[in-house]
Amino acid sequence: MSAVILAFADSMAAAGRLGASLDLAVHEVAARRFPDNEALIRIPASAQSVILYRSLDDPDHKLIELLLAASAARDGGAERIILVAPYLAYMRQDKAFHPGEAVSQKVIGGLLASHFDALLTVDPHLHRVATLSEAIPDIPAISLSAAPLLTALIDAQDDPIIIGPDSESRQWTEAIARPLGLQTLIATKQRLGDRQVSLAIPEVERARGRRAIIVDDMISSGRTLAEAAKSLRQAGATSIEAIATHCLARPDDLAFMATHGIARIASSDSIDGPTSQAALAPLIAHALRDNGLA
Ligand code: R5P
Repeated sequence: MSAVILAFADSMAAAGRLGASLDLAVHEVAARRFPDNEALIRIPASAQSVILYRSLDDPDHKLIELLLAASAARDGGAERIILVAPYLAYMRQDKAFHPGEAVSQKVIGGLLASHFDALLTVDPHLHRVATLSEAIPDIPAISLSAAPLLTALIDAQDDPIIIGPDSESRQWTEAIARPLGLQTLIATKQRLGDRQVSLAIPEVERARGRRAIIVDDMISSGRTLAEAAKSLRQAGATSIEAIATHCLARPDDLAFMATHGIARIASSDSIDGPTSQAALAPLIAHALRDNGLA
């Protein structure tokens, strides 16, 4: 089966790394906007098997462009289109929290399943749903963990303590701390607004005199990390770092976290940016090959 990787400008660097891992050509999808802001998509090549690569941070316009590119690939003769979206959007709204709210996970999951033949992502934020297949029905839906790559970013020589900033972070915190034999603390968090959380770390005094590393699946506004850092600083941690699979934080949010004493933030390259320190390409390439998709 002939195969090719198609990627958008925002994902070309990471897609290039995947192409190198799979020994596949990577072509850039041309996207332009009309004056009324409609998108026009043109793909430069197609093949029997197409891997469309794009992380879905800032998802609304990216999703439309992605669906148009998938349609162009299909018209160009693709028999199989695989979506590789290292960061997958709209996974958190998995129920109507208030009357009248849309269940975004169900809507977007169904939409993607109807346009792609398989989907691969990394550490999707699944909470009340146990498997990715429940969110992305009817097609192979592969969920990878970046934990081994993030573990490799930790220098454990001085026995740092690993902090999970909320109960959902326990899975990532333990997956990263266990291989290094490090102790963990798990906070309880209450979200008060988009940019406001309150957080308590039981037994936080165990961080006194130690390097603290906060581990989460994603960093968005950075308020969760900033609150955790405040508590760790007050408890006497010697330095505070953060590691996450996905860093969606904007420059002003990164600056906000720095002013709250977070000395280093490291993430995977699911969203290429100043915090990207772990390339996902080898992990994704391995999974695509293992599942007969490359
Ligand atoms: C939520 O449960 C996630 O795991 C993250 O803790 C959250 O999305 C971080 O958001 P923010 O950076 O805006 O506090």
